[in-house]
Amino acid sequence: MSEISDQIQTLVPEYVRNLQVYQAGKPIEELTRERGLTRISKLASNENPLGPSPFAIQKMTNALWEVHRYPDMNAYALKSGLAKLYKLKKENIILGNGSEGIMSYIARAFVQPGHEILTSENTFIGFYIIARSVGAKLKTVPLKNYRFDAEALAKNITPKTKVIYICNPNNPTGTYITKKEFDFLMSHVPSHVLVILDEAYFEFARETEDYPNSMDYRYDNVITLRTFSKAYGLSGIRIGYGFGHEDLIANLHKVKMPFEPGLIAQMGALGAIYDKPHLKRTVVNNKRRYTELFDFLTKHEFNPIPSVANFIAFKTGSEEASRYLFDKLLDHGVIIRQLKANEMPDFVRVSLGTKREMSHFYKAMENVLPEYNKRYGRPGRQ
Ligand SMILES: Cc1ncc(COP(=O)(O)O)c(C=O)c1O
Repeated sequence: MSEISDQIQTLVPEYVRNLQVYQAGKPIEELTRERGLTRISKLASNENPLGPSPFAIQKMTNALWEVHRYPDMNAYALKSGLAKLYKLKKENIILGNGSEGIMSYIARAFVQPGHEILTSENTFIGFYIIARSVGAKLKTVPLKNYRFDAEALAKNITPKTKVIYICNPNNPTGTYITKKEFDFLMSHVPSHVLVILDEAYFEFARETEDYPNSMDYRYDNVITLRTFSKAYGLSGIRIGYGFGHEDLIANLHKVKMPFEPGLIAQMGALGAIYDKPHLKRTVVNNKRRYTELFDFLTKHEFNPIPSVANFIAFKTGSEEASRYLFDKLLDHGVIIRQLKANEMPDFVRVSLGTKREMSHFYKAMENVLPEYNKRYGRPGRQ
């Protein structure tokens, strides 16, 4: 290492030096560049395959003429819309550059180096990175049957626990904790511990009977995070929102970048919340594609994990098999996700696309599977 980079290294705290850069799903343009393919189906990042709402596009287009001005840092219009939709006060709402933006405000406002954050293994990697970036000590418990294990979490709360992160439904497994399990866990959480309930996939899961919609609960130490990146189809503009007690939200505002999210993002989100038909189309498409994909994977004996989100994970049996499947599908223009970074290298995850994209996936799989089956067969059922 050169002298300069040695010096830079000494400037960086150890907990930052040890971080790994987040690996996103492969962008479509990259695959086009690399392999010269024209038909590409990206089923790797749990986005909305139907695209953004036309209302959102309209609002964002109009807002383009105003971008020489700073956005309203109080986001009056969007917060009023959200407050009305969820019967809250504006003081209970925080906005950020994606729900990840809000996670980083939480880390900045509440967590100091050495603080203990309790969560599960095999959950959203973005959260691990944010927690580690402020020097928190991550304590994780295993999933149980691919689900957050409320009992194990409750048992592992100590006087040092500062934050508990629950991803519901969980990415990458698509599973959820039930109302009963959530109530059980909350009955063990001391009031000085902050619970982050990440509901990025809420709109897909909300109709599930025993799914705990956090809006039905009023705990002063719970913050709910949701996003416009998934069902609302606005991942490219980066906007998410959080709900919580007004004192909690007030402290987050102290560390928030004042003009996040930008004007276009605020307007896109405002259009999106009023476009109920688009949201409905999205959820209906998701349900149909879910049944087809689940059946396809079951027919091919992949033993998929039942999911209430917009993706399905299934076991390949080894990291090598996952890589092979990923690579061979890329040759056909289909991008799926390997789960090595989630410490599930022997699994892959497929996001639910349009009917056309899913047909592309099925055709590609039919091509790849004969050789795949010869090489790797199927892992034993659990
Ligand atoms: C569970 C979970 N939370 C948060 C996010 C990030 O969402 P946003 O785009 O709002 O930052 C994702 C994105 O994949 C996710 O899966």
